[in-house]
Amino acid sequence: MTQTVRKSSDVLVIGSGAAGLTLALQLAKQASVTVLSKGKMTEGSTWHAQGGIAAVLDDEDSIESHVADTLAAGAGLCHEDAVRFTVSRSKRAIQWLIDLGVDFTRADSGPNQFHLTREGGHSHRRIIHSADATGKAVHSTLVEQAQANPAIDLLENFIAVDLIRQADPCSKKMRCVGAYVYNREADAVECFTAKVVILATGGASKVYLYTCNPDSASGDGSAMAWRAGCRTANMEFNQFHPTCLYHPLGKSFLLTEALRGEGAVLTLHSGERFMHNFHPLAELAPRDIVARAIDHEIKRLGSDYVLLDISHKPAEFIQHHFPTVWQNCLKFGYDITAEPIPVVPAAHYTCGGVVVNEHGHTDLKNLYAIGETSFTGLHGANRLASNSLLECIVYAQSAAEKISAELADIPEPLPPREWDESRVTNSDEDVVISHNWNELRHFMWDYVGIVRTHKRLERASNRIRLLRKEIQEYYANYKVSNDLIELRNLVVVAELIIRSAMQRKESRGLHYSLDYPETSDIARDTILVPMNFADQEVFVHGGTGV
Ligand code: FAD
Ligand code: SIN
Repeated sequence: MTQTVRKSSDVLVIGSGAAGLTLALQLAKQASVTVLSKGKMTEGSTWHAQGGIAAVLDDEDSIESHVADTLAAGAGLCHEDAVRFTVSRSKRAIQWLIDLGVDFTRADSGPNQFHLTREGGHSHRRIIHSADATGKAVHSTLVEQAQANPAIDLLENFIAVDLIRQADPCSKKMRCVGAYVYNREADAVECFTAKVVILATGGASKVYLYTCNPDSASGDGSAMAWRAGCRTANMEFNQFHPTCLYHPLGKSFLLTEALRGEGAVLTLHSGERFMHNFHPLAELAPRDIVARAIDHEIKRLGSDYVLLDISHKPAEFIQHHFPTVWQNCLKFGYDITAEPIPVVPAAHYTCGGVVVNEHGHTDLKNLYAIGETSFTGLHGANRLASNSLLECIVYAQSAAEKISAELADIPEPLPPREWDESRVTNSDEDVVISHNWNELRHFMWDYVGIVRTHKRLERASNRIRLLRKEIQEYYANYKVSNDLIELRNLVVVAELIIRSAMQRKESRGLHYSLDYPETSDIARDTILVPMNFADQEVFVHGGTGV
């Protein structure tokens, strides 16, 4: 039986963050583009980005210096070609955003100069920003432009469940031709077809109990690509941002690294600074080092948090440069202009992801992955601050160039198979979902967090196997819902993280193991290949047996 197609377009973009919208805008001149967002358009991480975008914009800065800083932060695991590719396109990427109308903060030195701030691991001021709400400025411009473009159809509350594959009529190799998508408002699964599909679904930090990421960060892109047969790489490298607000209602609100770039210091409760005991750059050391140092001090002293203090700077300076942080902290009873504030690390960024080439192309024909869901080789074992938004724009532009050159020759998809709900019923036990959801995020935090051991990883591995089985069974028997789709993906991603971490018998960048504290002489990526994991769920739902 064939499926009624809800929508067919040239290009299907799954995700409406910086990566997805950049690609949509680049292709809209020559293609019809559908963009899906699983919640509101602004729900992804892009909207929340604070510090800014790293780029070589100052005459005193250089591509070599930005490359060197990225390689140093990446602890020997960055792919130098990807780093050079990204950094050398940084100026062009920023110019594109400026031309679109993004309102970056100007410097006092002149109306055409932009203020550049500094963040950990950067040897120059090279972060262009819009005060401390860069993501909002970038994203609102991209959304406005996309909304005004008749070739782009933006759909909210549509969550992709799985990719659709078909044999290519010429090569007979599998190719991607669309996705089954759950329409949250209609409570029904629909089918979207396209000549080219792009995963731009963001990261997976929601796999951890404490994260500064929005709820959308459930690793859907990595999980869908994995189920469709694509490799993932370096999933063990999850970045923990050192400074998130410690407050029961604060949802790990991020306190931008630019605060430290502009002079904020980290102290113990006694007021004593401690970062110089861990790295010569002190508070501006790479993020993995700062997060581990805080974790160490918290555990050593049995305290719940350390303090971040910028109150020695003039109040007007703080309010001008950090209005979002200042106002948000005030809501929780802290005035950063007058006092230190309690901070803890929280899961922030997924360095690994779906393996892609320099055009964002994955292992599956006509399937691309861009932005945080992808693995380009740029970040190595630890992402340099503010290189993520840059990667989103650069790789979206590069993917668009490639797609644009090939689109006319890609044949239309055949009608796909029906999404079959004949063997599933409505769930009568949603508690299974909420319980497993909490359990997973708890043990990921406790056993696969900032500091790891072989025993902890084994514990996590045993638990994830049980959870996977239970969720697979649940998925096979009950109709899909938003939470079930996300939980199914979180289990896949958690397992990829654990398996990758278990394979790495050393400490490097964001992966720190008490059992293997040394860094090996040879740096290797951890590449996982789906066909090597026979026990892994591939397609089990009635509807997704593609
Ligand atoms: P996102 O912006 O996360 O967008 C993902 C999109 O995919 C969303 O629209 C979501 O709805 C959609 N989606 C997900 N799954 C599905 C599905 N199954 N079906 C349909 N749609 C789906 N980086 C920097 O470079 N500089 C910064 O200053 C900075 N600050 C940050 C501050 C915070 C608080 C956070 C959380 C991150 C920050 N980062 C920063 C990281 C950066 O913001 C992200 O890596 C980047 O925005 C990711 O963009 P993206 O387009 O890949 O994904
Ligand atoms: C921040 O503003 O500290 C976040 C920057 C980043 O994650 O790149």
